[in-house]
Amino acid sequence: ADYTIDVDTTRTGPKIDDSMYGVFYEDINRAADGGLYAELVQNRSFEYEPADNRSYTPLTSWDTKGAAKVVNDGGRLNERNRNYLTLAAGSSVTNSGYNTGIAVRKGKRYDFSVRARTDRTGAPLTLTLHDASGPLAAARRITARGGWSQYKASFTATRTSAAGRLTVASAAPAALDMISLFPRDTYQGRENGLRKDLAEKIAALKPGFLRFPGGCLVNTGSHEAYDEKSGWQRQRSYQWKDTIGPVEQRATNSNFWGYNQSYGLGYYEYFQFAEDTGAMPLPVVPALVTGCGQNKATDDPALLKRHVQDTLDLIEFANGPVSSEWGKKRARMGHPAPFGLTHLEVGNEENLPEEFFARFKEFRAAIEAEHPEITVISNSGPDDSGPVFDKAWQLNRDANVAMVDEHYYNSPQWFLENNDRYDSYDRRGPEVFLGEYASQGNTFGNALSEAAFMTGLERNADVVKLASYAPLLANEDYVQWKPNMIWYDNDQSWGSANYETQKLFMRNTGDEVVPSKSTGTPATSGPITGAVGLSTWATSAAYDDVSVTGADGRPLFSDDFSAGDAKWSRAAGKGEWAVEDGAYVQSDETAENTLVTAGDKGWQDYDLKVRATKKSG
Ligand code: AHR
Repeated sequence: ADYTIDVDTTRTGPKIDDSMYGVFYEDINRAADGGLYAELVQNRSFEYEPADNRSYTPLTSWDTKGAAKVVNDGGRLNERNRNYLTLAAGSSVTNSGYNTGIAVRKGKRYDFSVRARTDRTGAPLTLTLHDASGPLAAARRITARGGWSQYKASFTATRTSAAGRLTVASAAPAALDMISLFPRDTYQGRENGLRKDLAEKIAALKPGFLRFPGGCLVNTGSHEAYDEKSGWQRQRSYQWKDTIGPVEQRATNSNFWGYNQSYGLGYYEYFQFAEDTGAMPLPVVPALVTGCGQNKATDDPALLKRHVQDTLDLIEFANGPVSSEWGKKRARMGHPAPFGLTHLEVGNEENLPEEFFARFKEFRAAIEAEHPEITVISNSGPDDSGPVFDKAWQLNRDANVAMVDEHYYNSPQWFLENNDRYDSYDRRGPEVFLGEYASQGNTFGNALSEAAFMTGLERNADVVKLASYAPLLANEDYVQWKPNMIWYDNDQSWGSANYETQKLFMRNTGDEVVPSKSTGTPATSGPITGAVGLSTWATSAAYDDVSVTGADGRPLFSDDFSAGDAKWSRAAGKGEWAVEDGAYVQSDETAENTLVTAGDKGWQDYDLKVRATKKSG
C-alpha cells in the first residue's frame, strides 16, 4: 500500500513525561512469595492457613520426621508470629520450597537463618540442602542455646538443582520459627532481597513508575486490623503497616488470590525497588469499598478514619524527616533519606461509584490538607465504558479530581479499533492514569495490537499521563490471571511478546509528540511470519473447516466459517506458523497446548489439538 506521512514541523505536540510508561505490580499469581521475593523456603513461619478453599495448613510445604508439631501458645516468637514448630530429640523437618522445590545453582551461596529456642544445654541443629540424588552442599551445624535467638549459616551449592529440599534436624528438643534460605545473589545484593532475574527483567524496562501492591489484592477482604489478642484477622485487605519492620514481626495474611502472603516483600521493599529502578513509587491504598466482584461498602466511620490516618502515616513513612514517627521507622529499616512519594492512589475498581466517591473524598481532603504536594488518584471502576464508568467519571470530573485510573482487558481487535479513544477526552481534566490494560493473550499479535494502541496513548500524552500493562508477573505454577507480562518458574524467567512491546516504549520514550498525518490505505494483507506466540484471525478466506478437540479427543469447538471468525494463538516454542491474508497457510496442522478463544466462550485454557483444513481450490 502507498502511504504519505506529513510531519508538521511548525507545531509542537504534547510533551511526553519520562514517567509515562510504568509497571503495575500486583501480588497475584504468586508474584511476591514464590516470585519476586527471593525467599526459597515456603511457609517459613508455619502460619499458613486455608485460603480460598485451598487446603493450606501450618505444615504446608513441610515434611516432618519423628515428633515434630506446630504449636500456638504463649511460648511463641511474638504476638504477630503465633505458630512455631517443636522438634523432639532426633526429629527433623524438611521444606520443599515452591513448586518443584528449592532451586540452587552450583557454586552459588545460600544464606540460612532460623529463630530457635531450647533449654540451657543447647540443641545441636544439622542443616542439609539436598535433592533426590543426594546432598547439594556440605551439611552445616549450629547449636541453639536459651531463649529465642537467630542463628545463621551459609551453604555453597556443589550441584545445580531445581528440586532441592532443606532439612533441619535436631539432636535435642528445640522450638523453631522463621526457617529461611535466601540466595546471596539477590538483586542489588540486598538482604531480604529480590530474586535477581525477575528484578533485572523489570529494571530492564526502565519503568517510569511502579504501581503497587495491586489490584484486587488491595481493597478486598476485611479492613479490620490484625488482632494481636486473638491472633488473627484473616483475609485482610492490604494494610501497609502490616508489611514493614522486622520480617518476623510482619503478621502474615491469606489473600484474595487464594494463597498466603509472608509480607517479607512489603512497603519498604517496594519503595526501595522503585528507587533502585528509577521508577516513581505509586502505592494504592484501600478505599473501604470492595470491588472485584464483592461490591461491599464498609460503613464504619471509625474504621474509615483509621485508614485515612494510615494513609497520612504512609506519606510520612515515605517522605517524612527521620525525626517524625514514621520517618524514623523508615530510617531504622535502613533508608534515612525520603523516598520522594508524589502520587498515591485511593481505591481500585470499585463497582459502587457513589459509595466509593464518598470515601475517596475523605481521603483526598485529609491528604490535601496536610500534603498538597501529593497527587491523589481516583478510579473509574472495572470497565472501559458503561454506567459505572460514566458515573465514576462524572463524580471525578465534578470534584476536579486530578487523575483517574482506568482499567480494561479487551480483545486485540478492540485495541486496534480504539486507537483514538483519548483523542476526544476533555483537556480540562481529570488526567488519565491507564493503570491496567492488556489485550487477551501473550502472543505476537497481542503485543502488536498493544503497540498500535500505545501510539494513541502517546499522541494524547497531554491527557494520558501514566500507563501500565497488567499484570506484571506470573509464576506458571500458580496462575490466577492471564495474560501476564513476565513469566517464571523456580529458576527461570521469560518475558512475553507483550514485555518486548512495553520495553520498546519504556526505553524509548520521546520528549514530545510531533504532529503528523498519514494518508493512504493501510495494508490489510501481506505475509507476517513468526516463530513463537503468533496470533491471528483465521477467516473464511483460507479455511472452510477448523476443529478443536481436547487432548482426550473430546470435541471442544469447530467452525466452518459460515458465520463470523474464530481465532487462536499458537503456544510458544511449538514451531512456525506462517500467516497470510489473515489466515494460516499450512494445511492439516496439528498443535498442542494451545490457547483458544472459541466463539462466545471467552478465553479458556485447553490442553488441546487444533486441526485446520485449508480450503480446497
Ligand atoms: O490485573 C489483575 C486484576 O485485574 C487486578 O487485580 C484488578 O484490579 C483487575 O480486575
